[in-house]
Amino acid sequence: MTPLSRERIQPHLDTAWLGRDLHCFEVLDSTNLTAREMAVAGAPDGVVVIADAQRRGRGRLGRAWVSPARTNLYLSVVLRCDVPVDRLAQISLLAGVATCEAVRAWCSTAVIKWPNDVLIDGRKVAGILAELEQGGGGRAVVLGIGVNLNSGAGDFPDELRDKATSLHLVTGDRVDRAHFAGLLLTRLEARYDEWRRDGFAAIAATWRALAPLIGRRIQVQEPGGVVEGDVVDLDDDGALRLRRDDGSLYRVIAGDVTVIDGYGR
Ligand code: BTN
Repeated sequence: MTPLSRERIQPHLDTAWLGRDLHCFEVLDSTNLTAREMAVAGAPDGVVVIADAQRRGRGRLGRAWVSPARTNLYLSVVLRCDVPVDRLAQISLLAGVATCEAVRAWCSTAVIKWPNDVLIDGRKVAGILAELEQGGGGRAVVLGIGVNLNSGAGDFPDELRDKATSLHLVTGDRVDRAHFAGLLLTRLEARYDEWRRDGFAAIAATWRALAPLIGRRIQVQEPGGVVEGDVVDLDDDGALRLRRDDGSLYRVIAGDVTVIDGYGR
């Protein structure tokens, strides 16, 4: 497949500020690492880093992100935003909304699983890693988004084969990576601008519509053990509120969610 370039992405980019400064690389250790280095060096709001392949793609909870060359999208965005730390989770939720909207342009059944994984038929097609970087003239949030666009089944290691998928595996079509990148950045700018203008309420409403979790029974694998309960709602700080069988409320801040009886199938 042809390498990604600014020239190929630009015709699909309908943004005022996001990705106007866009850097494409053949291979990086991780786009998040490079974007963080750029943020420390003073990169402005809206800089985007894309790689055709990652040697050490990183996922949430210390996991690796499988990043074969010229197959998928590996992208990081530098956002210079001056919000209190307790509102930063809102950015990773709005990024999940934007990513799910972009995926839905190819597959209308995509859903979000808390906090911001995008799933099709119960399998993960996209993930987001949000990291905070201090320095370089203030705080920056680095938002890394990985989307499996054209992976074949053989691109996933054995342990992921039942858990991961790609738009190509689901639709049978090849996805134009430049087109997808342009649409994703366009949706991300729209949702980020909406959040800054109107606050979290509208984003949360869209998140709830894309993440049909309320009322569902879930298990959460947390560092200290497994918690089970029925989902009550999403809190403003991005936590998921559960009601446990003893009637107590419990807030899930981090961890891996499994929806009992399946999800998004
Ligand atoms: C997850 O575990 O769900 C988050 C995956 C995030 C992967 C993306 S790919 C682009 C960016 N660079 C990285 O090293 N990770 C993120």
